[in-house]
Amino acid sequence: MPIEAADNVPAELPGHGRTVCVTGAGGFIASWLVKRLLQKGYNVRGTVRNPVDPKNDHLRAFDGAADRLVLLRADLMEPETLVEAFTGCEGIFHAASPVTDDPEKMIEPAIRGTKYVITAAADMGIKRVVFTSTIGTVYMNPNRDPSKPVDDTCWSDLEYCKKTANWYCYAKTVAEQDALETARQRGIELIVVNPVLVLGPLLQPTVNASTEHVMKYLTGSAKTYVNAAQAYVHVKDVAEAHVRVYEAPGAHGRYICAEGTTLHRGELCRVLGKLFPEYPVPTKCKDEVNPPVKGYKFTNQRLKDLGMEFVPVLQSIYETVKSLQEKGMLPVLPPGDDVRDNLHEQLMMKPAQLLRN
Ligand SMILES: NC(=O)c1ccc[n+]([C@@H]2O[C@H](COP(=O)([O-])OP(=O)(O)OC[C@H]3O[C@@H](n4cnc5c(N)ncnc54)[C@H](OP(=O)(O)O)[C@@H]3O)[C@@H](O)[C@H]2O)c1
Repeated sequence: MPIEAADNVPAELPGHGRTVCVTGAGGFIASWLVKRLLQKGYNVRGTVRNPVDPKNDHLRAFDGAADRLVLLRADLMEPETLVEAFTGCEGIFHAASPVTDDPEKMIEPAIRGTKYVITAAADMGIKRVVFTSTIGTVYMNPNRDPSKPVDDTCWSDLEYCKKTANWYCYAKTVAEQDALETARQRGIELIVVNPVLVLGPLLQPTVNASTEHVMKYLTGSAKTYVNAAQAYVHVKDVAEAHVRVYEAPGAHGRYICAEGTTLHRGELCRVLGKLFPEYPVPTKCKDEVNPPVKGYKFTNQRLKDLGMEFVPVLQSIYETVKSLQEKGMLPVLPPGDDVRDNLHEQLMMKPAQLLRN
């Protein structure tokens, strides 16, 4: 049954009286998505694998959650639980997925699980599904011209993903291609969001994989940085992108969700070292032989065309570290906040200064 629209939701909010489901609701991105959907007045059915696990309690604390959020148990490998969760929904946001390069853990839930989601949605007459894919389905291709911006027409090379044991990108690429085909056959409007590496404050109480990408350079666990480059995006922008494509009547296909800047890992470490000099941030590249790898350029034009603006990458990095400290996941070390926040303010005005050697 649809959740009854709460009386106190203003009728002018886009989500008023509308019910959607978010799979993997307790995850890093999905938590922000649930929060945003509730803000916009939607009734949300969130799937988690264990609704009584305290790690999902943060969801129940969101404004509007008491009246308009229901948490249900569902597993991607148990299609009947998805059918139950989708009952009464007009749209689905499919964000649940393992995030790992372990093929045993990754391949089945990503590929078969996504197929089950699309099939269950189609069986229940649901018209629109937004799938959280990744830039990893787009740019992993050694034969691409690195000088050309990567756009929504690009696909990762499955053989290359396999050869390099990049099972996350492999599984997400197959999952996305299968999902597009199943959706086409079943008449579902499938819209895909392809975020680059996602940073920003955590709502959930555990560290997820993309946050670990920054955290490892602050705890001393990474002694050097790798010779690689990466684009970043703020988690709030990723949530917003999901909602925008869902609400835009003509939205279709793939939307690359990236702030626009690509940083070499050395640049990331320099930024971290300048903003947070109290941590043992690596200063040396593991690869002392080859020149620094240049990152691919991405276009985020399709989301900009929907009115999206992106949080600057340095802000995302800063907020990630502050959040880890506030949640007690990273010890707060001297110098004190005043010094750092001043430095932060000054440097935010001159980002180029941070990126220089
Ligand atoms: N973070 C990034 O940088 C990034 C970038 C691009 C794309 N993405 C994509 O964004 C989505 C969310 O990623 P995230 O970073 O938010 O990861 P996350 O915090 O690890 O969240 C993933 C969620 O998926 C759920 N899940 C995993 N396996 C499941 C299964 N078999 N059945 C049901 N639920 C399952 C987990 O639920 P439990 O709590 O029950 O384990 C978890 O809540 C993923 O599809 C990922 O591929 C992430």
